[in-house]
Amino acid sequence: MTFPTLLAADAALIQTRLDQALAPLADEPVIHAMRYAVQGGKRLRGFLVLESARLFGIPPAQSVSAAAAVEALHAYSLVHDDLPAMDNDDLRRGLPTVHRNWNDATAILAGDALQTLAFDLLCDPALGSAQTRISLVQSLSKASGAQGMVLGQALDMAAETNPNLTLPDITRLQAGKTGALICFAAEAGAILAGQDHTPLRQYATALGLAFQIADDILDVTGDPTKTGKRLGKDAAAGKATFVSLLGLDAARTRAQSLIAEAEAALAPYPNTHNLIAAARFVITRDT
Ligand code: IPE
Ligand code: IPE
Ligand code: MG
Ligand code: MG
Ligand code: MG
Repeated sequence: MTFPTLLAADAALIQTRLDQALAPLADEPVIHAMRYAVQGGKRLRGFLVLESARLFGIPPAQSVSAAAAVEALHAYSLVHDDLPAMDNDDLRRGLPTVHRNWNDATAILAGDALQTLAFDLLCDPALGSAQTRISLVQSLSKASGAQGMVLGQALDMAAETNPNLTLPDITRLQAGKTGALICFAAEAGAILAGQDHTPLRQYATALGLAFQIADDILDVTGDPTKTGKRLGKDAAAGKATFVSLLGLDAARTRAQSLIAEAEAALAPYPNTHNLIAAARFVITRDT
């Protein structure tokens, strides 16, 4: 199976689980906005959950609620990221952003409810024992909150008004903003299996950093009809990024060496083909 086919197959499983979770909810604008916000996207984080679980012989039927959880959490982060108080974006996944289609209050509330939906999904008994589910809840809480994504987003906002950021500053910012959720996703398989997650953490730390370098490169060189979002925003905002600090060529070289690092971290496992393909996709993607 080619990587795009595999990614699409995993994405369909995740969408079905999200649809199932959202179907019983009230017929209200905030619920429509939630459904809208979880449509589309590459589903890379959900893919990492399903494929890290497969490394340990755990099938999607058992892991899909954790994959849907990380995608719900990610969708919330995008809805809030696009708000006027943050990046003020009007296009996401090829469609008007949630606050453009409804209003700011609906976008804030839809994001809030997608976040709590993520933790509800992690309580699904299909995922395993109560202890396993508590570990997943704690791991996603840490990855999303004040030590993870939220911290990274706050540092990223501050980067717009601080022209003196260094490479270590940007790396710390990225580790929160993008890295933490990607680490949760790749470690989820080991948590589900009750196994050591150190090699997957190493893989995901390198992968997450390469992913954000690629996002910064796409912001400069990408095609908005493919990315489905406005580009050129980082430079327009005067934001320090990997590209503004390193230049395009050095940023590409750094991303490539990170992918080699990510692949090397998978050495302890057999059957790593899908996770290796994901790593290569991260730096060659145009979406
Ligand atoms: C975009 O993430 C936001 C970042 C963290 C850089 P993705 O590029 O994974 O967005 P979707 O989910 O595919 O839309
Ligand atoms: C968004 O980063 C990261 C999160 C939502 C956590 P960006 O602001 O760089 O993402 P895009 O470029 O809008 O997708
Ligand atoms: Mg942002
Ligand atoms: Mg943004
Ligand atoms: Mg970006």
